[in-house]
Amino acid sequence: MTDTAAHHQIIVGVDGSVSALHAVRWAAREAARRHLPLRLYHACVLPPAAPHVAKESREGVVEGLIEQGHEWLRAAEWEARDLAPAIEVHRELRVGTASALLIEQSRHARLVVLGSRGLGGFEGMLVGSVSVALAAHGHCPVVVVRGHTPQDPPPEGGPVLVGVDGSPVSDAAVAFAFEEASLREVGLVAVHTWTDMSVGETWSVLPFDIDYDAVAEDERRLLAERMTGWREKYPDVTVREVVLRDRPVRGLLKEAESAQLIVVGSRGRGAMTGMGLGSTSQALLHHSVCPVAVVRPAVR
Ligand SMILES: Nc1ncnc2c1ncn2[C@@H]1O[C@H](COP(=O)(O)OP(=O)(O)OP(=O)(O)O)[C@@H](O)[C@H]1O
Ligand SMILES: [Mg+2]
Repeated sequence: MTDTAAHHQIIVGVDGSVSALHAVRWAAREAARRHLPLRLYHACVLPPAAPHVAKESREGVVEGLIEQGHEWLRAAEWEARDLAPAIEVHRELRVGTASALLIEQSRHARLVVLGSRGLGGFEGMLVGSVSVALAAHGHCPVVVVRGHTPQDPPPEGGPVLVGVDGSPVSDAAVAFAFEEASLREVGLVAVHTWTDMSVGETWSVLPFDIDYDAVAEDERRLLAERMTGWREKYPDVTVREVVLRDRPVRGLLKEAESAQLIVVGSRGRGAMTGMGLGSTSQALLHHSVCPVAVVRPAVR
């Protein structure tokens, strides 16, 4: 496959979990909507050869793990073909660590889709390490498919939601969100929150006279400005702009209750630029009840 062709595929991580199968279904529908091939990808960690383990015994385990991986991939392919018979589906099994391999694969993909949980972790854990690693370090947009629990399918109806904070990364999220809303033929809700935390908590002891109505008006203008060009590019998408005086996570989670997808940038305006993922995106990955798309500006 040429590099250009690879950039036009959707990769989905398969690990035999219920959550990954939800991701496969979500990705199959997405591939059908975008007319892109789907690549089902399983990464398999094999036990190293060790002096105290009999060679035949290790070989048996290795064979078993690889056969199990292929079985998961075949089951995933069956699901994908059942939902989207017209799409091209490929299966791929690679030996190595899932996070590292998928991050590398994401260099050459349009989209990576994962479940919120896998087979590992512990009961009660809200999102797995592979999903967090890809959201933080993937090279293309990453969708973590979520419902109320990892066993629940994601919601199908409702608008696409995008979190806008005015940063360049959130502009990339807005672009992706418009594309998704248009493909899904649903409305877009653009949410911008602002808080008076720095005013109310830090400055409350000081005698500042703040005109909150004027601040709110500025914030509404900021959101409207960020949306203008995109509204013109996608006249088919109905947009609702929501400006809330709230913390971003709370505002977005509230709106997400009726959404089918929430789109955020990997980072926002926060100061900790060394971190792969901003705190809002991170919290949404843990608590959203619908799929979360984490988007970064295109580098290619
Ligand atoms: N070995 C793998 N190969 C391909 N995709 C994987 C693999 N492991 C996980 N994934 C993908 O990542 C999603 C989340 O799984 P993840 O491994 O992050 O969570 P977990 O197993 O619950 O916790 P842990 O962090 O302990 O592994 C899965 O639903 C699947 O889409
Ligand atoms: Mg796992």
